[in-house]
Amino acid sequence: MVEVKSHGLFKFMAPVYDCSARMAMFGQYERLRQQLLGKIEIKKGRRILDMASGTGYLAERMGAVDLVCTDISVKMLKRARKKAKGDFVLADAHRLPFRDGVFHSAVSSFAMHEVGRPGEVFGEMFRVLAPGGEIAVMDVVQQTRFSKKILLEIFHTFIEMRTASYVNIPQLKDAFRGADGFNIQLDMFELVALVWGRKRLE
Ligand SMILES: C[S@@+](CC[C@H](N)C(=O)[O-])C[C@H]1O[C@@H](n2cnc3c(N)ncnc32)[C@H](O)[C@@H]1O
Repeated sequence: MVEVKSHGLFKFMAPVYDCSARMAMFGQYERLRQQLLGKIEIKKGRRILDMASGTGYLAERMGAVDLVCTDISVKMLKRARKKAKGDFVLADAHRLPFRDGVFHSAVSSFAMHEVGRPGEVFGEMFRVLAPGGEIAVMDVVQQTRFSKKILLEIFHTFIEMRTASYVNIPQLKDAFRGADGFNIQLDMFELVALVWGRKRLE
């Protein structure tokens, strides 16, 4: 079993998660998810994976797609189920219980800093994605500039309670080696990276 540092935390966080996430995003809550969802095609019949969906931040804006939400916390998934239609699957992101190539798109928001081994999780997202499928991931990332490092340290201490392990941009690039192109957009004081691409056709 992969060691997961913080999912126990989400058992307690679930009831207050939406409210605290809104505050933590400094008024960017709606805009950030629209930006991510703008990177994939959302329409009826498309099978979309929301990996580590939490309480359904992305899921609740996906309308009539064939949606599958996964998370390691039952309490978070139960909340997501109240907001969106789809399948809700309790699963560790390091071993997704799906066959290869079954999704048209795979998305994830603010989860890579929670999972134990983000490289493996990206690998799983690519594995379950069909060739030519879209992947879009958004999260707070490590910083190189001094002023941003301080800002991240404040965020890490007061918002994340020092439970997070942020990925860095080279790790993200490496994770996207299975994609055609590596697109990145930095946002919310440049602390948040939105990365997206298309799985290479075989
Ligand atoms: C900060 S929340 C983000 C939730 C949601 N995507 C959002 O943007 O609001 C992180 C989520 O990752 C989940 N998580 C942490 N480790 C995980 C793992 N190894 N596998 C699946 N989910 C995991 C937690 O249970 C939690 O719901």
